[in-house]
Amino acid sequence: MARILTGIQSTGRPHLGNILGAIKPAVALANEANNDSFLFIADLHSLTQIKDKVTLKNNTFQVAATWLACGLDPKKTTFYRQSDVTECTELAWYLNCFFPYQRLKLAHSFKDKSDRLEDVNSGLFAYPMLMASDILLYDADFVPVGKDQLQHLEMTRDVASRINHKHGEIFVLPEPILQQDAQFILGTDGGKMSKSRNNTIDVFDDENAIKKLINKNIVTDNTPLEDPKNPDRATVFQLYKLIASNEESKTMAEKLKAGGYGWGHAKKELVEKIISSFSEERAKFEHYQNNPKEVEEVLMEGAQKAKKVAKATLDRVRNSLGYN
Ligand code: ADP
Ligand code: TRP
Repeated sequence: MARILTGIQSTGRPHLGNILGAIKPAVALANEANNDSFLFIADLHSLTQIKDKVTLKNNTFQVAATWLACGLDPKKTTFYRQSDVTECTELAWYLNCFFPYQRLKLAHSFKDKSDRLEDVNSGLFAYPMLMASDILLYDADFVPVGKDQLQHLEMTRDVASRINHKHGEIFVLPEPILQQDAQFILGTDGGKMSKSRNNTIDVFDDENAIKKLINKNIVTDNTPLEDPKNPDRATVFQLYKLIASNEESKTMAEKLKAGGYGWGHAKKELVEKIISSFSEERAKFEHYQNNPKEVEEVLMEGAQKAKKVAKATLDRVRNSLGYN
């Protein structure tokens, strides 16, 4: 059985792009019988940016509720909050002491912001070693990540090799699983859906709010109602295609091409499709909003399971370094 581990940033309630592009594929991977999966919310990493207590807590809750609503099975997957396993910060310190400053300063997470050094805190600088700690603490074999995280994975392997070389085989060297951006989900403005572009669709919002947002924000051209329209160039159709069946998508494409079917009609169908295809997730999400204690219990149980593994690794490390 391979141990697969990945961390999720907690930057607020995930949108349709996050759900289809990242959460659903990760849940499918975690649910595979042969995988022993560890999935955690990287809320310590969030502190490099978010200093507000309420926002920090709420983001973590929203992310946890989303993953659970989207089918993550906490019995099969060890699902926890990074900050509940304090062993992680202890290991991060040890790793920091073995990793050269000269290498760390090349990390993208820091370099991207190095033109505004006044905004960079030391936590952000050391971000890759906290991430290495997340991975090495649990003897992860595989780490599914996007392209932007590959460098951090390399640093993880590097610091693990340095310590293994000096102190014996303490750490498992993890392999990345590169997650291709298989599906590029469009936002309401026709560009990539992203929080920073303000073009997201929140599938957990109430139906009226989704309706309003789609009517107002999805870009369309001004082809008159009765004229034929090109579905391939229409954001509303591209979004519909992602969640509707092949048959349904074909029907909408034909209606658009035939004319007499307006953007308003297509938008209405898109809203209905979002509501119906996410009905189970929406119901579960709402349940967790009304029963936040259940989410807390799941996370605490996950933390207990994670802690067992973390403690064993940390014992090994402490022993090797001469701390007990
Ligand atoms: P955002 O800043 O918009 O919330 P992130 O860059 O934090 O998104 O991405 C979180 C995860 O969601 C990543 O795994 C990323 O690949 C995925 N993701 C984000 N936006 C999209 C999109 N438009 N299409 C497909 N996947 C996406
Ligand atoms: N840095 C990752 C990101 O920005 C999140 C993360 C933190 C992570 N620790 C991790 C991912 C460990 C994989 C493994 O997406």
